[in-house]
Amino acid sequence: MATKIRVGVIFGGRSGEHEVSLASARSVMAALDPDKYQVVPIGITKEGGWIAAGDPMQALTAGDAGSSGPAALLSDPAYRGLMRLEEKGQAVEVVRMTQLDVIFPVLHGPYGEDGTVQGLLDLAGIPYVGAGVTGSAVAMDKAIFKDVIRAHGLPVVDSQLVMRREWEARPEQVLDRLEGTLGYPVFTKPANLGSSVGICKCHDRAGLVHGLDEAARYDRKLLVEAAVPQAREIEVSVLGNDDPIASLPGEILPSREFYDYAAKYLDQGEKASGLLIPAPISPELTERVRELAVQAYRAIDCAGMARADFLLSGRSGELYVNELNTIPGFTAISMYPKLWAATGIAYPELVDRLIGLALERHANRARNKTSYQPEEG
Ligand SMILES: Nc1ncnc2c1ncn2[C@@H]1O[C@H](COP(=O)(O)OP(=O)(O)O)[C@@H](O)[C@H]1O
Ligand SMILES: [Mg+2]
Repeated sequence: MATKIRVGVIFGGRSGEHEVSLASARSVMAALDPDKYQVVPIGITKEGGWIAAGDPMQALTAGDAGSSGPAALLSDPAYRGLMRLEEKGQAVEVVRMTQLDVIFPVLHGPYGEDGTVQGLLDLAGIPYVGAGVTGSAVAMDKAIFKDVIRAHGLPVVDSQLVMRREWEARPEQVLDRLEGTLGYPVFTKPANLGSSVGICKCHDRAGLVHGLDEAARYDRKLLVEAAVPQAREIEVSVLGNDDPIASLPGEILPSREFYDYAAKYLDQGEKASGLLIPAPISPELTERVRELAVQAYRAIDCAGMARADFLLSGRSGELYVNELNTIPGFTAISMYPKLWAATGIAYPELVDRLIGLALERHANRARNKTSYQPEEG
């Protein structure tokens, strides 16, 4: 019998999307074919502690991390595995727990989706699902992301970056500049967050002051964007490494004025935001949005997967790239897998393909020389 592939699934994390991550990871673990894969669940607490002994999913769900046990990955690739940590008075004993062939990080937001965990996995020499350090980090910073997308000639809304320091030192000057360039309405956002946390729609100067103050609570970089009129929210799933493919597009029908935190996670039942799959848009627009999704994916050097989110003006029909989520929501009812299901790739096959892509990308990288050898002759 062939040995099974050991897949570490990492979930939880130091992020506002901790609970969403647990839900996504439960679905991923349930979909991994037990004849082919051995699942190694790895939890990260809200404080950033890694746990792996016993049942880390149960421990995090119950809010009792102590019922599992501390674990760590060492940056030295010679170990390539998960370690159990045991406190012995002043000392901490590191004990081999299990080797890992590949890791599926199911972490949303900062300290998970932003290149930090990806950097650790690169150092440790373990293949992993999804984008590498660069793609993850660029997708996480909304300001840098938009600069890169703009530089590739792809459509993005007009935006202005305000540093928190500047906002605090010269507020009147900042307000005048924003009113002179963008006008109203605008959206204010912390550059490095997700789940709509800290995002406001501002209709006047008082609203803009509030929006910038709110964004400044979360980040030192504040992004201000022209609001897309009567914005429709179109999303496309992308899958692949060097030859990515795009799914059919879907549309979100937010339950509120915009797709804010409550519309994403709190509104339930009849009040919940809706998903339309496929999006009710023309065949031409469908092709355009799929093409743009792949171009944006390539522009930031993504790998494995991403959900590409667009804003479509209900007034002008203009389409804008809004963001790429490199670890999108992954429950069975999340947009990313549902779009693939509608395009012909069922959830278990999707997870299987992502692991294949992780191994492929790692093998491709292993071809690179890591020291300089002058050519002979
Ligand atoms: N420029 C914009 N014009 C219109 N609506 C916007 C704009 N920017 C953001 N929104 C609304 O705010 C939501 C959250 O913004 P987004 O940039 O996607 O941040 P997050 O990473 O938190 O999802 C969007 O889904 C959309 O409803
Ligand atoms: Mg979004």
